[in-house]
Amino acid sequence: MKKILLTGGAGFIGSNFVHKICASDEGREYEFVILDALTYAGHYPNIQKVVESNKNISFVQMDLRDAKSLSQLFTKYRFDGVINFAAESHVDRSIDSPNIFIETNVLGTLNLLNAGLELFKANPDFKYLQVSTDEVYGSLKVNDPAFVEMTNLSPNSPYSASKASADLLVRSYYKTFKLPILITRCSNNYGPFQYPEKLIPLMIYNAIKGIPLPVYGNGSNIRDWIYVDDHNQGVWEVFKKGRFGEIYNLGGNAEMVNLDIVKLVLKKLGKSEDQIQFVTDRLGHDFRYAMNFSKAKKELGWSPKVTFEVGLMKTLDWYQSHWEWVEAVKLKTTR
Ligand SMILES: NC(=O)c1ccc[n+]([C@@H]2O[C@H](COP(=O)([O-])OP(=O)(O)OC[C@H]3O[C@@H](n4cnc5c(N)ncnc54)[C@H](O)[C@@H]3O)[C@@H](O)[C@H]2O)c1
Repeated sequence: MKKILLTGGAGFIGSNFVHKICASDEGREYEFVILDALTYAGHYPNIQKVVESNKNISFVQMDLRDAKSLSQLFTKYRFDGVINFAAESHVDRSIDSPNIFIETNVLGTLNLLNAGLELFKANPDFKYLQVSTDEVYGSLKVNDPAFVEMTNLSPNSPYSASKASADLLVRSYYKTFKLPILITRCSNNYGPFQYPEKLIPLMIYNAIKGIPLPVYGNGSNIRDWIYVDDHNQGVWEVFKKGRFGEIYNLGGNAEMVNLDIVKLVLKKLGKSEDQIQFVTDRLGHDFRYAMNFSKAKKELGWSPKVTFEVGLMKTLDWYQSHWEWVEAVKLKTTR
Protein backbone atom coordinates (compact mmCIF):
# COMPACT_ATOMS: atom_id res chain seq x y z
CA MET A 1 0.00 0.00 0.00
CA LYS A 2 1.48 3.36 -1.04
CA LYS A 3 1.86 5.80 1.83
CA ILE A 4 1.08 9.45 1.21
CA LEU A 5 1.72 12.39 3.49
CA LEU A 6 -0.99 15.03 3.20
CA THR A 7 -0.11 18.32 4.87
CA GLY A 8 -2.69 20.93 5.84
CA GLY A 9 -5.38 18.24 5.87
CA ALA A 10 -7.41 19.94 8.61
CA GLY A 11 -7.73 23.20 6.67
CA PHE A 12 -10.31 24.14 4.07
CA ILE A 13 -9.11 22.44 0.89
CA GLY A 14 -7.19 19.70 2.70
CA SER A 15 -10.17 18.54 4.76
CA ASN A 16 -12.34 18.40 1.64
CA PHE A 17 -9.59 16.28 0.05
CA VAL A 18 -9.70 13.92 3.03
CA HIS A 19 -13.48 13.50 2.70
CA LYS A 20 -13.65 13.18 -1.08
CA ILE A 21 -10.40 11.46 -2.03
CA CYS A 22 -8.79 9.72 0.98
CA ALA A 23 -12.07 8.18 2.15
CA SER A 24 -13.21 7.14 -1.36
CA ASP A 25 -12.99 3.58 -2.72
CA GLU A 26 -9.93 4.59 -4.70
CA GLY A 27 -8.40 6.39 -1.71
CA ARG A 28 -8.70 3.25 0.40
CA GLU A 29 -6.03 1.68 -1.80
CA TYR A 30 -3.55 4.13 -0.22
CA GLU A 31 -2.47 4.91 3.31
CA PHE A 32 -2.76 8.61 4.16
CA VAL A 33 -0.99 10.33 7.03
CA ILE A 34 -2.47 13.77 7.59
CA LEU A 35 -0.18 16.37 9.10
CA ASP A 36 -1.44 19.70 10.37
CA ALA A 37 -0.23 22.23 12.92
CA LEU A 38 -3.88 23.17 13.64
CA THR A 39 -3.44 26.92 13.36
CA TYR A 40 -6.54 29.15 13.47
CA ALA A 41 -7.34 27.81 9.96
CA GLY A 42 -6.96 24.13 10.82
CA HIS A 43 -9.77 22.45 12.71
CA TYR A 44 -9.40 18.78 13.68
CA PRO A 45 -13.17 18.19 13.95
CA ASN A 46 -13.30 18.83 10.16
CA ILE A 47 -11.80 15.38 9.66
CA GLN A 48 -12.11 13.61 13.00
CA LYS A 49 -14.92 11.23 12.02
CA VAL A 50 -13.23 10.28 8.75
CA VAL A 51 -9.93 9.64 10.49
CA GLU A 52 -11.58 7.54 13.19
CA SER A 53 -13.66 5.46 10.80
CA ASN A 54 -11.08 4.75 8.09
CA LYS A 55 -8.14 2.48 8.85
CA ASN A 56 -6.15 3.95 5.95
CA ILE A 57 -6.17 7.49 7.40
CA SER A 58 -4.26 8.75 10.43
CA PHE A 59 -3.51 12.18 11.84
CA VAL A 60 -0.47 13.80 13.36
CA GLN A 61 -0.29 17.32 14.76
CA MET A 62 3.01 18.77 13.60
CA ASP A 63 4.43 22.05 12.33
CA LEU A 64 6.20 22.18 8.96
CA ARG A 65 8.66 24.60 10.50
CA ASP A 66 9.91 21.83 12.80
CA ALA A 67 12.46 20.19 10.49
CA LYS A 68 13.63 17.67 13.09
CA SER A 69 10.18 16.23 13.85
CA LEU A 70 9.42 16.20 10.14
CA SER A 71 12.55 14.21 9.39
CA GLN A 72 11.65 11.70 12.14
CA LEU A 73 8.16 11.34 10.68
CA PHE A 74 9.58 10.65 7.22
CA THR A 75 11.96 8.05 8.69
CA LYS A 76 9.10 6.37 10.54
CA TYR A 77 6.65 6.13 7.64
CA ARG A 78 8.94 6.13 4.58
CA PHE A 79 6.31 7.90 2.46
CA ASP A 80 5.92 7.21 -1.25
CA GLY A 81 4.54 10.67 -1.86
CA VAL A 82 3.74 14.06 -0.38
CA ILE A 83 0.88 16.41 -1.22
CA ASN A 84 1.57 19.78 0.38
CA PHE A 85 -1.58 21.78 1.07
CA ALA A 86 -0.31 23.35 4.32
CA ALA A 87 0.20 27.09 4.16
CA GLU A 88 -0.67 30.42 5.61
CA SER A 89 -3.28 31.32 3.02
CA HIS A 90 -4.94 34.67 3.67
CA VAL A 91 -3.64 37.71 1.75
CA ASP A 92 -4.86 40.24 4.34
CA ARG A 93 -2.99 38.45 7.11
CA SER A 94 0.17 38.43 4.95
CA ILE A 95 -0.06 42.22 4.72
CA ASP A 96 -0.37 42.54 8.51
CA SER A 97 2.22 39.87 9.43
CA PRO A 98 4.37 38.70 6.51
CA ASN A 99 7.03 36.78 8.46
CA ILE A 100 4.94 33.73 9.30
CA PHE A 101 4.14 33.40 5.57
CA ILE A 102 7.81 33.05 4.77
CA GLU A 103 8.39 30.69 7.69
CA THR A 104 5.55 28.30 6.83
CA ASN A 105 5.15 28.66 3.09
CA VAL A 106 8.81 28.92 2.11
CA LEU A 107 10.88 27.38 4.91
CA GLY A 108 8.19 24.79 5.68
CA THR A 109 8.24 23.73 2.03
CA LEU A 110 12.04 23.57 2.12
CA ASN A 111 11.85 21.26 5.15
CA LEU A 112 9.46 18.97 3.27
CA LEU A 113 11.69 18.95 0.20
CA ASN A 114 14.77 18.08 2.26
CA ALA A 115 12.97 15.27 4.08
CA GLY A 116 11.57 14.05 0.74
CA LEU A 117 14.98 14.10 -0.90
CA GLU A 118 16.35 11.76 1.78
CA LEU A 119 13.56 9.26 1.05
CA PHE A 120 13.97 9.63 -2.70
CA LYS A 121 17.58 8.41 -2.43
CA ALA A 122 16.23 5.03 -1.26
CA ASN A 123 12.87 5.04 -3.09
CA PRO A 124 13.01 6.20 -6.74
CA ASP A 125 9.19 6.08 -6.87
CA PHE A 126 8.87 8.90 -4.32
CA LYS A 127 7.07 12.01 -5.60
CA TYR A 128 6.18 15.43 -4.25
CA LEU A 129 3.23 17.64 -5.22
CA GLN A 130 3.11 21.33 -4.29
CA VAL A 131 -0.35 22.91 -4.14
CA SER A 132 0.03 26.46 -5.40
CA THR A 133 -2.12 29.32 -6.58
CA ASP A 134 -2.93 31.52 -9.58
CA GLU A 135 -1.88 34.49 -7.44
CA VAL A 136 1.81 33.76 -8.19
CA TYR A 137 1.21 35.10 -11.72
CA GLY A 138 0.17 38.55 -10.51
CA SER A 139 -2.69 40.56 -11.93
CA LEU A 140 -4.42 40.74 -15.33
CA LYS A 141 -6.11 43.63 -17.09
CA VAL A 142 -9.71 43.15 -18.17
CA ASN A 143 -8.93 41.98 -21.71
CA ASP A 144 -5.64 40.13 -21.08
CA PRO A 145 -5.55 36.44 -21.99
CA ALA A 146 -5.80 34.01 -19.06
CA PHE A 147 -2.64 32.81 -17.28
CA VAL A 148 -0.83 29.84 -18.82
CA GLU A 149 1.83 27.76 -17.05
CA MET A 150 4.59 29.74 -18.84
CA THR A 151 3.27 33.14 -17.69
CA ASN A 152 6.00 34.99 -15.78
CA LEU A 153 5.71 34.98 -12.00
CA SER A 154 4.76 38.44 -10.74
CA PRO A 155 3.42 38.06 -7.21
CA ASN A 156 2.11 41.26 -5.61
CA SER A 157 1.36 40.33 -1.99
CA PRO A 158 3.57 38.77 0.68
CA TYR A 159 1.27 35.71 0.45
CA SER A 160 1.66 35.27 -3.29
CA ALA A 161 5.39 36.06 -3.07
CA SER A 162 5.80 33.31 -0.48
CA LYS A 163 3.90 30.85 -2.68
CA ALA A 164 5.93 31.83 -5.75
CA SER A 165 9.14 31.41 -3.74
CA ALA A 166 8.03 27.95 -2.67
CA ASP A 167 7.21 27.02 -6.28
CA LEU A 168 10.70 28.06 -7.36
CA LEU A 169 12.30 26.02 -4.58
CA VAL A 170 10.23 22.98 -5.58
CA ARG A 171 11.28 23.44 -9.21
CA SER A 172 14.93 23.77 -8.19
CA TYR A 173 14.83 20.40 -6.39
CA TYR A 174 13.73 18.86 -9.67
CA LYS A 175 16.39 20.60 -11.73
CA THR A 176 19.21 20.15 -9.21
CA PHE A 177 18.43 16.82 -7.51
CA LYS A 178 15.98 15.26 -10.00
CA LEU A 179 13.41 14.98 -7.20
CA PRO A 180 10.15 14.01 -8.96
CA ILE A 181 7.97 17.04 -8.36
CA LEU A 182 4.65 18.37 -9.59
CA ILE A 183 3.08 21.79 -9.08
CA THR A 184 -0.61 22.66 -9.32
CA ARG A 185 -1.75 26.27 -9.51
CA CYS A 186 -5.43 26.84 -8.90
CA SER A 187 -7.85 29.74 -8.88
CA ASN A 188 -10.10 30.86 -5.98
CA ASN A 189 -11.77 27.97 -4.17
CA TYR A 190 -15.05 27.97 -2.32
CA GLY A 191 -17.10 25.30 -0.57
CA PRO A 192 -17.60 23.70 2.88
CA PHE A 193 -15.10 24.16 5.73
CA GLN A 194 -13.68 27.47 4.47
CA TYR A 195 -12.74 29.76 7.34
CA PRO A 196 -15.09 32.78 7.30
CA GLU A 197 -12.42 35.34 6.45
CA LYS A 198 -12.28 34.62 2.69
CA LEU A 199 -14.79 36.39 0.44
CA ILE A 200 -17.64 33.89 0.06
CA PRO A 201 -17.85 32.47 3.62
CA LEU A 202 -17.29 35.94 5.11
CA MET A 203 -20.17 37.35 3.09
CA ILE A 204 -22.40 34.42 4.04
CA TYR A 205 -21.49 34.87 7.71
CA ASN A 206 -22.09 38.61 7.79
CA ALA A 207 -25.26 38.39 5.74
CA ILE A 208 -26.76 35.82 8.13
CA LYS A 209 -25.57 37.75 11.20
CA GLY A 210 -27.09 40.95 9.80
CA ILE A 211 -23.81 42.88 9.98
CA PRO A 212 -22.20 44.94 7.17
CA LEU A 213 -20.59 43.09 4.26
CA PRO A 214 -17.22 44.80 3.66
CA VAL A 215 -16.36 45.10 -0.04
CA TYR A 216 -12.90 46.34 -1.03
CA GLY A 217 -12.72 49.47 -3.23
CA ASN A 218 -15.65 49.53 -5.65
CA GLY A 219 -15.93 45.73 -5.74
CA SER A 220 -14.87 45.49 -9.39
CA ASN A 221 -12.04 42.95 -8.88
CA ILE A 222 -12.43 39.75 -10.86
CA ARG A 223 -11.58 36.22 -9.74
CA ASP A 224 -12.03 32.82 -11.34
CA TRP A 225 -13.99 30.59 -8.92
CA ILE A 226 -13.73 26.83 -8.56
CA TYR A 227 -15.71 24.50 -6.32
CA VAL A 228 -13.28 22.84 -3.91
CA ASP A 229 -14.07 19.25 -5.02
CA ASP A 230 -13.13 20.12 -8.60
CA HIS A 231 -9.78 21.50 -7.39
CA ASN A 232 -9.10 18.40 -5.32
CA GLN A 233 -9.93 16.05 -8.19
CA GLY A 234 -7.43 18.04 -10.26
CA VAL A 235 -4.73 17.75 -7.59
CA TRP A 236 -5.34 13.99 -7.41
CA GLU A 237 -5.16 13.55 -11.21
CA VAL A 238 -1.92 15.52 -11.33
CA PHE A 239 -0.50 13.50 -8.44
CA LYS A 240 -1.32 10.20 -10.18
CA LYS A 241 -0.64 11.05 -13.81
CA GLY A 242 1.22 14.36 -14.09
CA ARG A 243 4.62 14.58 -15.75
CA PHE A 244 7.44 15.26 -13.31
CA GLY A 245 8.87 18.75 -13.29
CA GLU A 246 5.63 20.14 -14.73
CA ILE A 247 3.19 22.79 -13.59
CA TYR A 248 -0.55 22.33 -14.11
CA ASN A 249 -3.02 25.22 -14.00
CA LEU A 250 -6.45 24.36 -12.59
CA GLY A 251 -9.37 26.76 -12.93
CA GLY A 252 -13.11 26.92 -12.54
CA ASN A 253 -14.07 28.53 -15.85
CA ALA A 254 -16.13 31.01 -13.80
CA GLU A 255 -14.81 34.55 -13.82
CA MET A 256 -16.91 36.73 -11.55
CA VAL A 257 -16.82 40.33 -10.35
CA ASN A 258 -16.57 40.43 -6.52
CA LEU A 259 -19.54 42.77 -6.12
CA ASP A 260 -21.74 40.47 -8.21
CA ILE A 261 -20.87 37.57 -5.91
CA VAL A 262 -21.75 39.62 -2.83
CA LYS A 263 -25.08 40.62 -4.37
CA LEU A 264 -25.80 37.00 -5.36
CA VAL A 265 -25.10 35.76 -1.82
CA LEU A 266 -27.47 38.40 -0.41
CA LYS A 267 -30.14 37.55 -2.97
CA LYS A 268 -29.97 33.80 -2.33
CA LEU A 269 -30.22 34.42 1.42
CA GLY A 270 -33.11 36.84 0.95
CA LYS A 271 -31.15 39.76 2.43
CA SER A 272 -30.96 43.41 1.42
CA GLU A 273 -28.10 44.94 -0.59
CA ASP A 274 -28.15 47.75 2.02
CA GLN A 275 -25.87 45.49 4.08
CA ILE A 276 -23.01 46.13 1.57
CA GLN A 277 -20.35 48.49 2.90
CA PHE A 278 -17.56 49.66 0.59
CA VAL A 279 -14.23 49.87 2.46
CA THR A 280 -10.73 51.18 1.61
CA ASP A 281 -9.17 48.92 -1.01
CA ARG A 282 -6.68 46.20 -0.01
CA LEU A 283 -3.05 47.30 -0.46
CA GLY A 284 -1.63 46.03 -3.76
CA HIS A 285 -5.02 44.49 -4.63
CA ASP A 286 -4.74 42.37 -7.79
CA PHE A 287 -7.43 43.36 -10.27
CA ARG A 288 -8.08 40.11 -12.12
CA TYR A 289 -7.06 36.45 -12.21
CA ALA A 290 -8.07 34.04 -14.97
CA MET A 291 -6.78 30.53 -15.65
CA ASN A 292 -6.11 28.71 -18.87
CA PHE A 293 -6.21 25.05 -17.82
CA SER A 294 -6.08 23.46 -21.27
CA LYS A 295 -2.87 21.59 -20.37
CA ALA A 296 -4.57 19.69 -17.50
CA LYS A 297 -7.56 19.06 -19.76
CA LYS A 298 -5.47 17.75 -22.63
CA GLU A 299 -2.96 15.68 -20.65
CA LEU A 300 -5.09 14.46 -17.76
CA GLY A 301 -8.65 14.72 -19.05
CA TRP A 302 -9.45 16.99 -16.11
CA SER A 303 -11.91 19.87 -16.19
CA PRO A 304 -14.14 21.45 -13.52
CA LYS A 305 -17.60 19.90 -13.28
CA VAL A 306 -19.52 22.15 -10.86
CA THR A 307 -20.96 25.40 -12.22
CA PHE A 308 -20.70 28.49 -10.04
CA GLU A 309 -24.46 28.67 -9.57
CA VAL A 310 -24.65 25.05 -8.34
CA GLY A 311 -21.48 25.31 -6.24
CA LEU A 312 -22.67 28.47 -4.54
CA MET A 313 -26.01 26.88 -3.62
CA LYS A 314 -24.21 23.82 -2.18
CA THR A 315 -21.98 26.16 -0.19
CA LEU A 316 -24.84 28.27 1.11
CA ASP A 317 -26.72 25.13 2.17
CA TRP A 318 -23.65 23.78 3.94
CA TYR A 319 -23.00 26.97 5.96
CA GLN A 320 -26.64 27.29 6.95
CA SER A 321 -26.79 23.68 8.13
CA HIS A 322 -23.37 23.81 9.89
CA TRP A 323 -23.74 27.00 11.88
CA GLU A 324 -22.24 25.38 14.99
CA TRP A 325 -19.09 24.78 12.92
CA VAL A 326 -18.98 28.45 11.91
CA GLU A 327 -19.30 29.61 15.52
CA ALA A 328 -16.69 27.08 16.70
CA VAL A 329 -14.01 28.15 14.22
CA LYS A 330 -14.72 31.83 14.83
CA LEU A 331 -13.95 31.20 18.51
CA LYS A 332 -10.52 29.73 17.74
CA THR A 333 -7.73 32.07 18.69
CA THR A 334 -5.34 33.24 16.02
CA ARG A 335 -1.85 32.05 16.84
N1 LIG B 1 -8.21 28.83 -0.83
C1 LIG B 1 -7.96 29.06 -2.12
O1 LIG B 1 -8.76 29.68 -2.82
C2 LIG B 1 -6.69 28.54 -2.74
C3 LIG B 1 -6.52 28.64 -4.12
C4 LIG B 1 -5.37 28.11 -4.71
C5 LIG B 1 -4.41 27.51 -3.93
N2 LIG B 1 -4.58 27.44 -2.57
C6 LIG B 1 -3.55 26.77 -1.78
O2 LIG B 1 -4.13 25.58 -1.27
C7 LIG B 1 -3.56 25.27 0.00
C8 LIG B 1 -4.66 25.12 1.03
O3 LIG B 1 -5.39 26.33 1.12
P1 LIG B 1 -6.61 26.49 2.11
O4 LIG B 1 -7.49 27.54 1.55
O5 LIG B 1 -7.16 25.16 2.43
O6 LIG B 1 -5.86 27.08 3.38
P2 LIG B 1 -6.30 27.05 4.91
O7 LIG B 1 -5.68 28.27 5.51
O8 LIG B 1 -7.77 26.83 5.07
O9 LIG B 1 -5.59 25.76 5.50
C9 LIG B 1 -4.20 25.68 5.68
C10 LIG B 1 -3.91 24.51 6.60
O10 LIG B 1 -2.48 24.47 6.80
C11 LIG B 1 -2.22 24.32 8.18
N3 LIG B 1 -0.93 24.95 8.49
C12 LIG B 1 -0.65 26.27 8.46
N4 LIG B 1 0.63 26.47 8.84
C13 LIG B 1 1.15 25.24 9.10
C14 LIG B 1 2.43 24.80 9.52
N5 LIG B 1 3.44 25.64 9.78
N6 LIG B 1 2.62 23.46 9.66
C15 LIG B 1 1.63 22.58 9.42
N7 LIG B 1 0.38 22.96 9.04
C16 LIG B 1 0.16 24.28 8.88
C17 LIG B 1 -3.38 25.01 8.89
O11 LIG B 1 -3.53 24.55 10.23
C18 LIG B 1 -4.55 24.67 7.99
O12 LIG B 1 -5.13 23.44 8.37
C19 LIG B 1 -2.58 26.40 0.31
O13 LIG B 1 -1.30 25.97 -0.02
C20 LIG B 1 -3.05 27.54 -0.59
O14 LIG B 1 -1.97 28.38 -0.91
C21 LIG B 1 -5.70 27.94 -1.97
